[in-house]
Amino acid sequence: MSFSNDFLFGAATAAFQVEGAVSEGGRTMSIWDTEFRTPGRISNGDTADIACDHYHRYPEDVALMRDLGLNSYRFSISWSRIFPQMGQYNPEGMQFYKKLLEELKKSGICAAVTIYHWDLPQWAQDQGGWLNRACVDWYLDFAKKCFEELDGAVALWITHNEPYCASFLGHQIGVFAPNIATVEKGLIAAHHMLLSHGKAVRLFRHMGIKGKIGITLNLGYYYPETERFTDKLAVTMSEGYVNRWFLEPLFHKRYPQEMLTLFAARSSTDFGFIKEGDNECIAAPIDFLGVNFYSSSVIRYAPTALCLNTSGYSSRKKTSMGWDVDPDALVKLLKRIREQDTDLPIYITENGSAWEDQIVDGEIHDPDRCEYLLKHLKAVSSANSLGLNVVGYYYWSIMDNFEWNEGFSKRFGIIHVDYDTLKRTPKDSYYLYQKCIKQIRNSGDIIG
Ligand code: GCO
Repeated sequence: MSFSNDFLFGAATAAFQVEGAVSEGGRTMSIWDTEFRTPGRISNGDTADIACDHYHRYPEDVALMRDLGLNSYRFSISWSRIFPQMGQYNPEGMQFYKKLLEELKKSGICAAVTIYHWDLPQWAQDQGGWLNRACVDWYLDFAKKCFEELDGAVALWITHNEPYCASFLGHQIGVFAPNIATVEKGLIAAHHMLLSHGKAVRLFRHMGIKGKIGITLNLGYYYPETERFTDKLAVTMSEGYVNRWFLEPLFHKRYPQEMLTLFAARSSTDFGFIKEGDNECIAAPIDFLGVNFYSSSVIRYAPTALCLNTSGYSSRKKTSMGWDVDPDALVKLLKRIREQDTDLPIYITENGSAWEDQIVDGEIHDPDRCEYLLKHLKAVSSANSLGLNVVGYYYWSIMDNFEWNEGFSKRFGIIHVDYDTLKRTPKDSYYLYQKCIKQIRNSGDIIG
């Protein structure tokens, strides 16, 4: 049987992308609110001030999850709702999450809670954000409050979502908030995020909090464009940058050697931000690994690029984000994690795709998303038939939402959101997922 009886079928969101209500209940600005208030940062001028209004409409959203047959919902907590200012706890902000968890419990849906999904409070950024080692302590204050207040209501705690994006895209490449583009600063931000993860895991154990704790990484699978040595080298560097820079400290107490050499050559860093004991702390034992998987990439050697790599040509079908559809790569990636890193249970904490939906007489047809979803569920099934131990799958996303730099222009949801009226309409893919879950629960696998 490829799917155990307690397999979690879920869907995921993140606070900033769905909640809206940006100034309600005492919430203050996050770095992403600042991002979209800065002219020219996002091309179409969208803001997440209302987003999907999940903050007010969560009962309707949870009802849709229940009808779909989900037994888990992954969401994140907005840090600036909980701590609108440094050291100032806001119970009203926490109340929203308590109500949401209550609603989920009534519907028999267990919660997977991401503590940090990129929305650093602006007050923290004003004091250096993740570049300031003190941010680790601010994060711990936040995590501690979440643990204390929500203990017993959360099945899975996820310390961070995709620290690669938050650190490197935000501080090294500069395409995400807070838009810093310095090689060393990216490394510092990543290190502090990883350190805050390890410390939060230790705190969780020390406090005796119920449930399990882990972290979610976005992991890629890379192919060389040609068989040339240089393209293969570029693949090694891509893996080192996106995957191993995070997997190795978490599971092997070290950063990848070839990446350290590369970064030393490409910046003036002396790695002084790595203090004694940090590597031990980052590798604090966790209960599971969360993997966000969307696509594979073809890589070409580029000698002047930071990591010697650039995108190569691929003939694979592409989503409207331009991402290659490659479900087999998920299985290959999982095999590699098993060979190189860990035996821990794996949750696919995100997998999904953006397409142009077809709206016909009020129905939303999304054949490409249906195909993508089915193929990836089948990939999970094959992974498990190989013994790769995937214990849950969360589709990204339960509903269309605010796709960061793309604003509302890219739709990932299995529920359509009309951004004028906020009306929710399940798409064909919602019904397909519902059918697959039923089938799997009846027979243990996907048929057809
Ligand atoms: C991600 C994020 C999501 C994105 C999704 C699609 O982890 O990158 O968790 O917030 O919206 O991945 O790009």
